[in-house]
Amino acid sequence: MCGIVGYIGENKARPVLISGIKRLEYRGYDSAGIAVIKDNGIICEKSVGQICELEKKINGKFDKSTMGIIHTRWATHGAPTVENAHPHFDCSGKIAIVHNGIIENYNYLKAKLEKEGHNFKSETDSEVIAHLIESHFEETLEDAVRRALKEVEGAYGLAIISLDDPGKLIAARHGSQLIVGIGKKEHFITSDVAAILEYTKNVVYLDDNEIAVLTRDNMKTTDVDNVQISKRIDEIQWNLDKIEKSGYKHFMLKEIHEQPQALRDSMLGRYEKDNNLVHLGGLKDKENVLRNIRRIIIVACGTSWHAGLIGEYMIEEHLGIPVEVEYASEFRYRNPVIEEDTMVVAISQSGETADTLAAIREASKKGAIILSICNVVGSSIAREADCGIFLHAGPEIGVASTKAFTSQIAVIFLLTLFLARIRGNREVLSNDMASKLKEIPKQVQKILDREDQIIKIAQLYKDNGNFLYLGRGYNYPVALEGALKLKEISYIHAEGYPAAEMKHGPIALIDKNMPVVFIATTDKVYSKILSNIEEVRTRGGKVIAIASESNNEISKLVDHVFYIPETIDALTPILSVIPLQLLAYQMAVMRRCDVDKPRNLAKSVTVE
Ligand code: AGP
Repeated sequence: MCGIVGYIGENKARPVLISGIKRLEYRGYDSAGIAVIKDNGIICEKSVGQICELEKKINGKFDKSTMGIIHTRWATHGAPTVENAHPHFDCSGKIAIVHNGIIENYNYLKAKLEKEGHNFKSETDSEVIAHLIESHFEETLEDAVRRALKEVEGAYGLAIISLDDPGKLIAARHGSQLIVGIGKKEHFITSDVAAILEYTKNVVYLDDNEIAVLTRDNMKTTDVDNVQISKRIDEIQWNLDKIEKSGYKHFMLKEIHEQPQALRDSMLGRYEKDNNLVHLGGLKDKENVLRNIRRIIIVACGTSWHAGLIGEYMIEEHLGIPVEVEYASEFRYRNPVIEEDTMVVAISQSGETADTLAAIREASKKGAIILSICNVVGSSIAREADCGIFLHAGPEIGVASTKAFTSQIAVIFLLTLFLARIRGNREVLSNDMASKLKEIPKQVQKILDREDQIIKIAQLYKDNGNFLYLGRGYNYPVALEGALKLKEISYIHAEGYPAAEMKHGPIALIDKNMPVVFIATTDKVYSKILSNIEEVRTRGGKVIAIASESNNEISKLVDHVFYIPETIDALTPILSVIPLQLLAYQMAVMRRCDVDKPRNLAKSVTVE
């Protein structure tokens, strides 16, 4: 997630900007940049990597300025390079902007501005905003900003300065958090109050379509039509630690609750407005090759491997292309058979998992086309693949993967619809599956709003030493994922199985001390799941069921039931995994485990 800090006042800007942006490092980033106005010029420095790299480049020339902007970039469009780092400038170099969000129509705007003679220096979507403001500049910076933003579609949090209107710092918000700090003879802009808490506790939260014009002594807020808006000044009550987690106790819980937004961001700009046909920019140049794919191999590890299993069911069910899912660590050493027209899909949140990286190198040597599904732009797997799709889920800090997993499922679904479009699969395109995906973020929120029901179940079972997770069809990989979540953060032993497999051994484990979680949503194999539940109950096992909200019979058959909204089978895993994420989280907290940094685990396994 990008971080923004802006300052205008009577103190030196540099220390305020540097200390502020360092407070936002936890959000994850891959490059940074600063611009200040001094005398009659804007001076700017940018760097790839940590803030300390930027500090090495900032010399005394920054010291005299009392206004400026600084930014940490989490790459979404364009790799993490100095050119792509913010701030971005217009052609004249007199307007500097920093941006958090995604500009959906940036391709259109960039082409229009280039036709008008604007020259771009970066691959980013953000840079179009600086040139758009320049194209509208007449008298005041704020008027140029208002006119420019009327052309923008997508999400933005912006801080803007200009040499042609030097005494002003402009903030503008649509879809990305932006806050104004009110000090004595000074004003601040930030994407997160953590950055300015040491200077002021008095803040104004901008709402969508609002612009704030800040000078040293004054703040004026309007909407994009220049209608004056009066804003309430709030006083921050939180301490710093809580703020970095946006008030959540752990990053993992924050990321579980970020899933509705992460899922929305995974879809942003990827549908044609009027017919829901899916376009994926990162696959555009490979459409001809992908049209002829006859076999798909998915390689991944851990949670990403579970997402791959769901992808196998999805693509085979809807496109009839044979898919197999392999542990990357096995694939890389077993001399796999790769035929012509084989695509290898690498799924990896970090994009740095050593086994997955080695697997795609092996596959590439054997002639496969490599498609990556990663969350980190500029990561090794993303860079080495022939084409790819980014999750846009924002940084995932908690070691246990949550929002990346559900975003992976959403992106694989988009890939299925994309392949259906380029391969002319009328059946898939006719039944408007895309609208089902658009409903998912709201349905996830409905589940998150009932977290207290999960807490009650967690309290009953937090001291158990073993768990079984059982599911069928699309919910079999969810059973594996639920078991992995529990064991990796609460250290309770848990196993996931296809429910029918229970009879082939695990049923020997069933007794009153073995709680069994069934993912029992109403699908074509629901009646089979009911028989499996009965087999557990007759042997004294405790049953916790995840069931569809229309199911009014299952509560009589199990010990606990948690209901989830209904959707198509292929998207059910996004909903059925949420209560399992929350169950694992709550039990780990009750067992006083280090939820964000579980023992023995790393966020990215970059070694074998
Ligand atoms: C999941 O909660 C774990 N942190 C782990 O299994 C993880 O999914 C696995 O290491 C793969 O990581 P990647 O997605 O970054 O490649």
